[in-house]
Amino acid sequence: MTSDSLSDQHEQLGRATTKLISEHAALLESAAVTSGATPADLEKLFSEPLPLDDSPAEEILEQFARDIAPHAMQVPSPHYFGQFNPTPLAIGVWADALCSSLNQNAGAWRNGPTSAMVESQCIRWLCELIGYNDGAFGVLASGGSEANLIALKCARDRAEPGAMRAGLGAQNQLTVYTSEQCHYSVEKSLDILGLGRDSLRKIETDERFHIRLDRLREAIETDIEKNRKPCCIVGVAGTTSTGVIDPLPELARIAREHDCWFHVDAAYGGALAFSEEHKSKLRGIELADSITFDPHKWMFVPFSCGATLVREGGQTLRHSFDMSPEYLSEDRGFADAQYDFFRYGQMGTRRFNSLKLWMCFKFMGKRGYSETVERHIELTRHLAARLDSLLDFERVGEIETAVCCFRYLPESVRAMSGDEQDRIQQELQQRVEKSGKAFFPSTVLHGRRALRVNINSYLTEHRHIDDLIELLQTESRELLREK
Ligand SMILES: Cc1ncc(COP(=O)(O)O)c(C=O)c1O
Repeated sequence: MTSDSLSDQHEQLGRATTKLISEHAALLESAAVTSGATPADLEKLFSEPLPLDDSPAEEILEQFARDIAPHAMQVPSPHYFGQFNPTPLAIGVWADALCSSLNQNAGAWRNGPTSAMVESQCIRWLCELIGYNDGAFGVLASGGSEANLIALKCARDRAEPGAMRAGLGAQNQLTVYTSEQCHYSVEKSLDILGLGRDSLRKIETDERFHIRLDRLREAIETDIEKNRKPCCIVGVAGTTSTGVIDPLPELARIAREHDCWFHVDAAYGGALAFSEEHKSKLRGIELADSITFDPHKWMFVPFSCGATLVREGGQTLRHSFDMSPEYLSEDRGFADAQYDFFRYGQMGTRRFNSLKLWMCFKFMGKRGYSETVERHIELTRHLAARLDSLLDFERVGEIETAVCCFRYLPESVRAMSGDEQDRIQQELQQRVEKSGKAFFPSTVLHGRRALRVNINSYLTEHRHIDDLIELLQTESRELLREK
């Protein structure tokens, strides 16, 4: 193959792929959100022998169009109300193709000089947006889970500087505090970092699902009495189940009092910072030692793209992650090591993921993001108002972002036991999912199953919310009729 024939191949595949992508987008309004296929159905479609010979690209793309796309969860649909998964911006989708064509290894400056600059710029934009000073810096991660892990490693290394070399051992005394509404990645991270899952104190939440400060103080006091060492408090800005924001200034104060690292998991809610109307909900976030912010949630950047931001800047990350392999440490006479992102996090070879973030930032601008975030919150309030007007549904918690939780509780269901009520919520969720007309998950709030809708598509409008209400009414009536 020559570079000319490679160019021809791109031309041909580019046309065919563009057609597939634009045809898929055109169907988003009407296509079923879920395919209804079971794992066994899909196994039949995909189980074939290891390919020994080459296949024409057209045939492979045909298989994509026939077997893959129609059975995918239609995440970009305006009827998809799932877990903070957005409709990706078109420029982000194509940025991914450009990223692959350059195939930069964004781990080290020498393997991707422009990717290092673009990532640095994106990090500075995110830091500015959140209200950090110029000294702050950060690193892109695969998503919120990895971003939380990176931040918690910094917290551990500050509390126990010897742990990097010697590990923590069975005598670990460090404890970490967060709301019982935290994302599971916090608990997983403590396991990976050698603190163990039992070092996490999941603090009770109030009736609106914010962390209870009195309970947090009690837990810290109890641990200190037992000679444990409080190491980190994690506040959540946009909890996974209800989208609410913990009282960040108060958490920062408690963290300071106990010399704890303060991390804010704003994987979802960080985007509130775009909006003049809503950014006050994040008050206190700038006091955090570190922040998780996922552009692949409310910034509509295609998966995957998360970020860890650190108030004290790159030195903190390098203290925890820097290595000097011989083959990446030649002196080139200029300060390129500061742009080696493998020194700031756990990944070695890294995608040029900042390209899609950079393009999305420019394409939308702060104003574009602000308008979309505000519109989503307004749409969520519309949904809440429609539910409030129906006697058979009861809302759970408050609308602080674009998440609305509720339960189906007509009189006959109210008379049932708690477990039976939970089963009804699950059955309703399943009916909606099987209908293919919309998708939302359920969750558990203060021990009871609830339905959870998140608006995260810039294609969603009032009419889609009204369709969802109609669907809920139809499916719930059918559900009761069959009981
Ligand atoms: C609050 C919060 N933090 C972290 C995460 C983890 O993000 P990811 O799935 O990108 O790893 C999520 C995921 O939904 C989340 O809701």
